[in-house]
Amino acid sequence: MADNGDSCPVMAVPLAPKIQQELQTKFGSFDKGLVEVGPGRYLLPQHCRLYLDKYAQFRFRPDDVVVMTFPRSGTTWTQEMVWCMTHDLDFTTAINTPHRERSPFLDFLKQHSDVNPGTTGVFLARAESVPSPRIIKTHLPFSLLPPSILESCKVIYVARHPGDVCVSYYHLQRLFKSANFKGDLEEFLDLWCRDLVLRGPYWSHLSEAWAKRTHPNLLWLYFEDMKKDLLRELQRLDHFLATGLTEDELLQVAQHSSFANMKARPATNLSLIPESPGLMPGEAEFVRKGATGDWVNRFTPQMKAKFQAWVETGSKAVGEVPPRYTQG
Ligand code: A3P
Repeated sequence: MADNGDSCPVMAVPLAPKIQQELQTKFGSFDKGLVEVGPGRYLLPQHCRLYLDKYAQFRFRPDDVVVMTFPRSGTTWTQEMVWCMTHDLDFTTAINTPHRERSPFLDFLKQHSDVNPGTTGVFLARAESVPSPRIIKTHLPFSLLPPSILESCKVIYVARHPGDVCVSYYHLQRLFKSANFKGDLEEFLDLWCRDLVLRGPYWSHLSEAWAKRTHPNLLWLYFEDMKKDLLRELQRLDHFLATGLTEDELLQVAQHSSFANMKARPATNLSLIPESPGLMPGEAEFVRKGATGDWVNRFTPQMKAKFQAWVETGSKAVGEVPPRYTQG
């Protein structure tokens, strides 16, 4: 049954004790428990219950741009490009100011802690207060945000092949102390294929956005397309955002946001911040490899078979999803 208190209209159901115990063994920081949220049964830390109603009632402004993704799909890259495009190509500020300060993370659960339930959460408060135009990051799916969001502002959804997302997420969950995953990639893939990763299920997240892809206030981007022809995707962004930038200006954005540049800058690569307290030492960097299709080199034949079975059954269970991620 629902266990979310009177103030929150969104259902949040604790995980079955056996699964909870399994996750607590594998993730050093999931000791306070996880819940399945909403009809999509998204896996979130239990303390998210303090914030679900606030997310669902968040007041978006007409000039907001929301970058919505499943984690590790190219969020930071897209935020960086969109922030520069909507802020007069102010590369100097972009280079010198951490991206999280410029572009608030609405549902930064690590910061929206249960330490002080009386507050709304540091990043939620920041998202409420930053000046327009706001470039807001969220990993929440549409069903956990205000139903009118697309009538209120623009949303960019960035999708990435689930194999690459899985590998990238494995490294992130080892890197972030707030998760502290202790297993190897094969163990992570097992959880992934059982939809037991934070913010999952992947297919539900994707399917909810795919259903809205023709809405004029939604722009659908693929990580793979950005890698293949960034100028073309920047032109689509320019048109969607009505920023009116020239090709030369878009090329400047591409150069500023190149993988090498974003990896080399502490403003976008958290791993370069000296003694970053939230990161486990010795793990792969936050801006890591930026490749497409590399998952095939990381999965054994057995892992590939398991992954393929998950693609087939999982994608069919949720409705329509982008066909390019289910074929071969
Ligand atoms: P990898 O771990 O595969 O390298 P998110 O920002 O949603 O967490 O996504 C992170 C992924 O995007 C990481 O993937 C990261 O390296 C990659 N990335 C970040 N900046 C990039 C860029 N400028 N070009 C290509 N990939 C980038």
